[in-house]
Amino acid sequence: MSVQVHAGGSAANALESEEAQLAVNTRTWGAGGLLRWYKHRKLHPAEAALFERHREALSGRVLELGCGGGRLTRHLVATARELHGIDIAADMVAYCQRSYPTATFSQGDMRDLSAFASEDFDAVVAGANVLDVLGDHARASLLDELHRLLRPNGLLIFSSHNLACAPLLAGPTHKLSKHPVRFTNRVVRLPRSVANHRRLVALQHFGPDYAILNDEAHDYSLLHYYIGRDDEERQLARHNFELVECLALDGTTVAPGESAFGCHELHYAAIRSEARKA
Ligand SMILES: C[S@@+](CC[C@H](N)C(=O)[O-])C[C@H]1O[C@@H](n2cnc3c(N)ncnc32)[C@H](O)[C@@H]1O
Repeated sequence: MSVQVHAGGSAANALESEEAQLAVNTRTWGAGGLLRWYKHRKLHPAEAALFERHREALSGRVLELGCGGGRLTRHLVATARELHGIDIAADMVAYCQRSYPTATFSQGDMRDLSAFASEDFDAVVAGANVLDVLGDHARASLLDELHRLLRPNGLLIFSSHNLACAPLLAGPTHKLSKHPVRFTNRVVRLPRSVANHRRLVALQHFGPDYAILNDEAHDYSLLHYYIGRDDEERQLARHNFELVECLALDGTTVAPGESAFGCHELHYAAIRSEARKA
């Protein structure tokens, strides 16, 4: 069974659905207890390539959004002159502060970055699709806020779910693995996954160039923003960022017009450009 999506809808519906999405995602992440999934240190080839190629910007003052269990933090702290991480989950923040005492961490929602001064960062990193917990309006506001925080030509590195892969999303009962451990894990978690999916699939939403979808992450307990490469480039341009490169998970370049079908998340590097004249 593939995931059912509800297309279209009015602007009022979109806002309502965005509020519902935020409530769902904030409940899942804010509750904590997910630290164990994010303590490992592995980088995807795309992340390793971006960190290497943009080393200069990453060697200044860096802000990490949704630092989680420090998977990326470990690499960032080794390069950055100063690193500040924020996360909504208290246990993630406490773990990062203990593990990386030379950096500073604060618990907070990335929708409110008003504590940070304008043009104070050389780079902002938002790994593992953290921006996708927000809906379209909140994402737009955050991009404007990141433009304010970055110095001119400052760097934004982030990843986002690839809308081209939406048809590949499947419900919890689809294709249970034949591997005994994975099978048992999935079966044990199945009632929770099915209940979450049944509840959240009704909140899925399709915008003009994005979709809000319930995928399998954390037992189908989240609603994520999905967007394709070219629409992300246009979105960045609307918020005065210039796309430098887009990579598939394996580190290969996704060129304009390519969908990277089969690659469920895309990695982006963009620089702050000057506000366009009206
Ligand atoms: C998918 S995890 C990624 C963790 C880490 N960046 C990594 O790459 O492994 C997303 C992280 O974002 C945090 N998060 C979710 N919503 C947030 C919000 N509104 N503001 C700040 N952090 C948030 C979660 O608590 C979680 O630690």
